[in-house]
Amino acid sequence: MRTRPLAELSARDLRPLLAEESEHWGGELFWDYADVSAAVASGLERGALSGLVLQDGPHCVAYCYYMLDGGRAIVGSVFAAEGFRGRRLEEGLLREVLAEAQGHEGPERVECQTLFSTAASAEDLFARAGFQSRSRHYLVRLLSERVETAPRAWRLRPVRREDLATAAHIIHRSHQGSLDAALNLTYATPAFCRGFVETLVLRAGCGRFDGEASFIADGPEGAVGVLLASHLSRTNGHVCQVSVLPSGQGRGVGAALMSAALAAFRRQGLETASLSVTLDNHRAYRLYQRLGFRLRKRFAAHAWVRPPARIELPA
Ligand SMILES: CC(C)(COP(=O)(O)OP(=O)(O)OC[C@H]1O[C@@H](n2cnc3c(N)ncnc32)[C@H](O)[C@@H]1OP(=O)(O)O)[C@@H](O)C(=O)NCCC(=O)NCCS
Repeated sequence: MRTRPLAELSARDLRPLLAEESEHWGGELFWDYADVSAAVASGLERGALSGLVLQDGPHCVAYCYYMLDGGRAIVGSVFAAEGFRGRRLEEGLLREVLAEAQGHEGPERVECQTLFSTAASAEDLFARAGFQSRSRHYLVRLLSERVETAPRAWRLRPVRREDLATAAHIIHRSHQGSLDAALNLTYATPAFCRGFVETLVLRAGCGRFDGEASFIADGPEGAVGVLLASHLSRTNGHVCQVSVLPSGQGRGVGAALMSAALAAFRRQGLETASLSVTLDNHRAYRLYQRLGFRLRKRFAAHAWVRPPARIELPA
């Protein structure tokens, strides 16, 4: 077996591994990964991806990549083909890829969420490489179970194109000083949040945007909450983001948005709903549990900044 830079391979070389990966995340996470795999293949063709591949003879059996995005390097999948898991091959690739990303000239920050990882014990590697980390859970709920309807104290309306700035503002404000904002640059500034919202809504950045299950909640003083939803597969609806302005939290807005999204998923005939949450985000986690979401996969969010800068995690 030998390790090679991704840049030396063509999309054709990687295609069988990408096809297996797509199938794998479809089964494990109800996530139709075909679009992501196509983006990886096209990134490879354009020379826009860095990373490493492990080959067994001519066959690609494991890979790990990263890409540069607005001042940070984001480590994507860490995936090994079925017969090659449990041998710490992914860990070996990840260790080298992290070192490369940290040594890369340009990005001052490296981030990785290990949702798309088949590595059994990657988490220690991040600590050793100087990353700050927090556990996250991928939760799933069957939509065959009835949805409790929340009291209708809040007016919910569909998200329109003109609402994108409002949505970005609410998301930014809701995360100020949070653990998620410390570990994910996406929430750091209003401009990053705006880019995130546009990616979700206009560019299918996390599955196909679902306008029927996405809502703005209006209070007496205007918009107070937002939920953005998508379809990760033909049968799985995903809550990409739910946020309530700090001043409006703890009054049932989040519950109203969530139950409206779940009801919309049910009306569309979807079978499951999914989302990701940071374990220490107690309010959000309790809300999801009350709504019937259950653990499907443990993973973690990791972030590193170039010293002497430091990531300060809130208590
Ligand atoms: C997570 C989040 C969306 C929840 O929204 P919310 O509007 O605060 O949620 P709710 O008000 O529906 O429920 C939260 C709590 O308020 C309580 N509550 C609901 N209605 C209430 C009312 N009328 N009076 C008093 N308390 C009420 C709920 O029982 C719940 O209690 P708990 O936290 O002890 O479990 C919101 O807190 C938020 O935006 N957080 C920051 C961003 C974030 O973390 N998003 C989720 C990422 S996965």
